[in-house]
Amino acid sequence: MEKILEQLIIYQTLDREALVRLMADPSPALGAHLADAARKVCEEHYGTAVFTRGLIEFTNCCRNDCLYCGIRRSNRKLHRYRLDKEQILACTDQGYALGFRTFVLQGGEDPWFTVDRLEAVVAAVHARFPDCAITLSVGERPREDYERFYAAGADRFLLRHETADDAHYRTLHPREMDPEHRKACLYALQAIGYQVGTGFMVGSPGQTVEHLVSDLLFIQALQPAMIGIGPFIPHRDTPFRDQPPGTLKQTLKCISVLRLMNPKALIPATTALGTIDPTGREQGILAGANVVMPNLSPVAVRGDYSLYDNKICTGEEAAECRDCLAARMKKIGRTLAVDRGDAIGYGPKAGESRHRF
Ligand code: 5AD
Ligand code: FES
Repeated sequence: MEKILEQLIIYQTLDREALVRLMADPSPALGAHLADAARKVCEEHYGTAVFTRGLIEFTNCCRNDCLYCGIRRSNRKLHRYRLDKEQILACTDQGYALGFRTFVLQGGEDPWFTVDRLEAVVAAVHARFPDCAITLSVGERPREDYERFYAAGADRFLLRHETADDAHYRTLHPREMDPEHRKACLYALQAIGYQVGTGFMVGSPGQTVEHLVSDLLFIQALQPAMIGIGPFIPHRDTPFRDQPPGTLKQTLKCISVLRLMNPKALIPATTALGTIDPTGREQGILAGANVVMPNLSPVAVRGDYSLYDNKICTGEEAAECRDCLAARMKKIGRTLAVDRGDAIGYGPKAGESRHRF
């Protein structure tokens, strides 16, 4: 195993067989080695700065029915909401004052947000804060929509592939959702010029080590600027209510291996990681992650953006979340950066137009 670890550090990749051996090995010492190596690589590129993104969960209405997700359309128990443009702008105002220079607008696949409406939101945020990066996380849409959002000022797009194994994908999603279409969206977003983020859940029902390795190899081929992963956590009003959650240990190991395979990527320590363990996000940073995403959504709707049970930060105001994370990071020798936080090799360059089409 030592040889494999050494190879991974030097070549930043391994073949499938070696990755399977690595990911299947439950040794805590191996996890600790991987975390140390990943943290070192991260510090070489990004120092001890941790980037922040202000998360605005602007709609929990969703036309999809993913079996794991609490905001799936079949969940009749959920109170549905959407924020209008003015409410979203109020979140960005508050966030800007708190030092955020990138906003993530995340929502379910909500047909009320037509291309015109969402484009207007992006344009309004961009006009107000031209120095901020705008990240969209709004699921699968026609390429034309993606192009219009980009032209209106969106810079980045988060779309997790969820699992790179097509057969596994079909067990997590209803029939009408197509893994090939989802991947095609990721390639289209990259071709348009977005900094793209993808990712997957660790420990989703039916996931095997082989599936996990397919995720690692898919990400290596895609070369995304951002990689978001977190443990699967069951939601009481979904078909997966009785499934076991993903573990802290396996999620941390995935973060470390992803860092070693993608040294310059932006990797968040996610809310889901902070939900399965009170110090999950700190441990994520120490295992190679370098981004945190404090919540800027109005407290009145926080609880309704219920992807999984016991989600943290549902009662805290934006400033409280930011201060809480700043304190947590300080404790582990990290400082929150007031910066757009572009991945190395990405972001605006002097004199170059960002519009490629
Ligand atoms: N547990 C963990 N993560 C989840 N997501 C959705 N439902 C769950 C769950 N039950 C993740 C998906 C999605 C992201 C926004 O949240 O990976 O892409
Ligand atoms: Fe939200 Fe700690 S980050 S309360």
